Amino acid sequence: MRNLLVVGAQWGDEGKGKVVDLLAESFQIVARYQGGHNAGHTVVIGSQTFVLQLIPSGILRKELKAVIGNGVVVDPAALLQEIEVLEKNGITTPGRLFISNRAHLIFPYHQAIERVMENSATGQKIGTTSRGIGPAYEDKTGRRGIRVADSFDEKQFRELVASNVEEKKAAIAAKGGSLQMDAQEIASSYLELCRRLHPLVIDTSKYLNNEMSAGKAVLLEGAQGTLLDVDHGTYPFVTSSNATAGGACTGLGIAPTRISGIVGVAKAYTTRVGNGPFPSEAHDVAGEALRKRGHEFGSVTGRPRRCGWLDIPLLRYSAMINGLDALIITKLDVLDELEEIPICTSYEIAGKSTLEIPARIDELARVQPVYHTMPGWKQSTFGCKRYEDLPAKARAYLEFIRKQVGIEISMISTGPERSQTILMPGTRLDKLLPAPLVIH
Ligand code: GDP
Ligand code: IMO
Ligand code: MG
Repeated sequence: MRNLLVVGAQWGDEGKGKVVDLLAESFQIVARYQGGHNAGHTVVIGSQTFVLQLIPSGILRKELKAVIGNGVVVDPAALLQEIEVLEKNGITTPGRLFISNRAHLIFPYHQAIERVMENSATGQKIGTTSRGIGPAYEDKTGRRGIRVADSFDEKQFRELVASNVEEKKAAIAAKGGSLQMDAQEIASSYLELCRRLHPLVIDTSKYLNNEMSAGKAVLLEGAQGTLLDVDHGTYPFVTSSNATAGGACTGLGIAPTRISGIVGVAKAYTTRVGNGPFPSEAHDVAGEALRKRGHEFGSVTGRPRRCGWLDIPLLRYSAMINGLDALIITKLDVLDELEEIPICTSYEIAGKSTLEIPARIDELARVQPVYHTMPGWKQSTFGCKRYEDLPAKARAYLEFIRKQVGIEISMISTGPERSQTILMPGTRLDKLLPAPLVIH
């Protein structure tokens, strides 16, 4: 059994897309388990750049099958558009892409509700991606959500949409606004969109369990990151799903015993999009420099990402919550020009040093990061493929991270392309992969 889970260890955008595309070569199936088109997973192959939002990044390897699990919230128009872009680039989906019949659908009224909530004078402004993700998950847990399977029965689907639209109209009116949407128009357009997706719809849990039992290796792709997890992240400044390892089981309908290993992807520094506390944020020119050199602008919304230094307490927390077997460090090259590199090694709360992550958001916002400063290597690591070829100071930086987090680093990314990667030999990742990985 070799089913590997890849999770984001920070606030998302760690480079999961690149990592999943790269690792996918050793697997037969790749599956997404949560989130929706709030995700933006970039894969660079030569002169082509793909930003995958709902479809697992492994789809770009033509021999792989890809699964969108029950835990994902699906905007059918966004998914069809993504399929179209892939098809235009010669990547076919029929017979390769499967969508769960239990996945919940995102409707235009979810985006309308989100706009009202984000702009409300009294509520908390999260700085969401405006895709309707939160309200769609609210309907799911509120037991009024509409699932892909419901679109196979027109009469029932129309009734469900009508009752949801009525409910949303009332909710928005209570906030002093109005929702101008016609339920039957929405239902008609969604029935047509879903009809186009029907050939891809299956019971993905049954499919995955059968394939796993038959010995196929499945790569599980997380979206967002640990600190955006609705339970374990910096609540309420989080997304509305379980991005952490546990989410893979509920979001795909597979047992924890099916997962043989878990790797966490982290940048060599930290970024965050949207609002909420970020203890190691660099507010000065250093933050601006990271943003510029790392091209830190959202792949979905284009918003500038907030940038800062690596945060060890958060990485240790992430390693604990996800039970990480190995770390993958990305974007090392972004630090190449720095004179010195601060790393947050602990927090100070009311004069006391701690590695704990406070549950209360106001406390997390008040922690004082304690920094250890390491010398920069001031030399290019861009595209480096061998650990021995890294400057000694870059190796010292990575070694410091390994010791502080207590998890081995199995892979280092030194550029956006597949080939710009260092695979550390003899690490746990080697043992977790179903077939040896060759980096071309
Ligand atoms: P994801 O959401 O975790 O898949 O990450 P994103 O795709 O949103 O953001 C990561 C960005 O960094 C993308 O533009 C990648 O092409 C890019 N990237 C990934 N790894 C590296 C790396 O090692 N070095 C550099 N310079 N860019 C990288
Ligand atoms: P990937 O998979 C980074 C952030 C939003 C916002 C919060 C809630 O590419 O790493 P939402 O629209 O989900 O309700 O917004 O979560 N967010 C992400 N930040 N990467 C992502 O995905 C994100 N998906 C959501 O910016 O702060
Ligand atoms: Mg992203």
